[in-house]
Amino acid sequence: MRVLVTGGGGYIGCVLCDHLIRAGHSPVVLDRFFWGRRPLAGVRVEEIVGDIRDLREEWFDGIEAVVHLAGLSNDPTAEYNPEANWQMNAVGTERLVELCKRRGIERFTYASSASLYDTESSANEPERSPIMCDESTEIAPRGAYSLSKRHGEEAILAAADGAFAPVIFRQGTVYGWSPRMRFDLVVNTFIKDASMHRRLFLHGGGWMWRPLVDVSDVARVHVMALEAPLDAVRGQIFNVLEENYQIRQLAMLVAGSFALRDVRVELVEAPLPSLVRNYRISNAKLSRALGFTPSVTVLESIERMISQLPGALEELAHPQNYNVRWMALLEEMHALQRGFRSIY
Ligand SMILES: NC(=O)c1ccc[n+]([C@@H]2O[C@H](COP(=O)([O-])OP(=O)(O)OC[C@H]3O[C@@H](n4cnc5c(N)ncnc54)[C@H](O)[C@@H]3O)[C@@H](O)[C@H]2O)c1
Repeated sequence: MRVLVTGGGGYIGCVLCDHLIRAGHSPVVLDRFFWGRRPLAGVRVEEIVGDIRDLREEWFDGIEAVVHLAGLSNDPTAEYNPEANWQMNAVGTERLVELCKRRGIERFTYASSASLYDTESSANEPERSPIMCDESTEIAPRGAYSLSKRHGEEAILAAADGAFAPVIFRQGTVYGWSPRMRFDLVVNTFIKDASMHRRLFLHGGGWMWRPLVDVSDVARVHVMALEAPLDAVRGQIFNVLEENYQIRQLAMLVAGSFALRDVRVELVEAPLPSLVRNYRISNAKLSRALGFTPSVTVLESIERMISQLPGALEELAHPQNYNVRWMALLEEMHALQRGFRSIY
């Protein structure tokens, strides 16, 4: 299939394009390339440099399926410019769905987020285990990012019918190596901090729960959904995770993996951050419907990332690998070059 991958130049997108190619599909990447084009160098993809807020009809010529990843991809970047976040994540998704329907594109997968399960009440008691949420749990998301993702989900589900079979994945926090690396995701951050500072901070003791999943498993589920019988996935929401972990546990796994290499990493208790996220989710539905079993545990991924570190020292320090830091720098550069014209 010729698959349009919006946001295909990002952390998940680069890995997904590789999976699509290996499964015999032809990815066409539509991306603003906020983080540059280097990660896709040498990958056999067609590239469209474009914005999800300014979709052109001709980009959909010959497209048979869409994987929708584009947009601002975490809380800090969404809070940095909530209006741009809304236009990209909520309105952009709505327009993309309209266009797909107009063009008769039936297969569509969407990268939503497990952070939709995070609520005020679970966050207020980080030391208590939150309830296990599944796709039928009522959600009350908070924050610009989660609210825009929920709007995206609602627009997609409202459009599902006999000719449009969208699938929504509520992805846990992702870990693992990608050609476009992100060091602002909890496990990856711990690897970076252990390597650069030999110290990991446990905010509020690190008792909060989080569902986690390897980047290659996320890529795999999107491909599985594109290839599944349409009626098994049409209009369905699926949680995607390997397992739920407490942040404290993750720090211990990372410190332990460094200790096995004779590197001592200190664990330091720190005050609670202003935004506390605390939630646990189940992947039973995905396993039942698509036969999904995660293939890379967090421990295996930690080992792989540590073994890749010697060749990645430059990456660790580069601001392009930290979303909100890079956004702030891009804004500054544009302001200097053009008088103030926002990158957003
Ligand atoms: N990484 C995670 O832990 C995680 C967890 C849950 C959900 N998600 C979702 O998965 C998707 C991909 O996440 P990621 O980690 O690869 O993020 P990323 O930031 O690495 O990738 C996003 C990509 O979208 C592109 N993009 C952003 N705004 C755009 C616009 N207006 N028009 C065109 N392209 C645009 C960026 O250039 C980038 O290449 C996002 O929708 C994110 O919300 C990610």
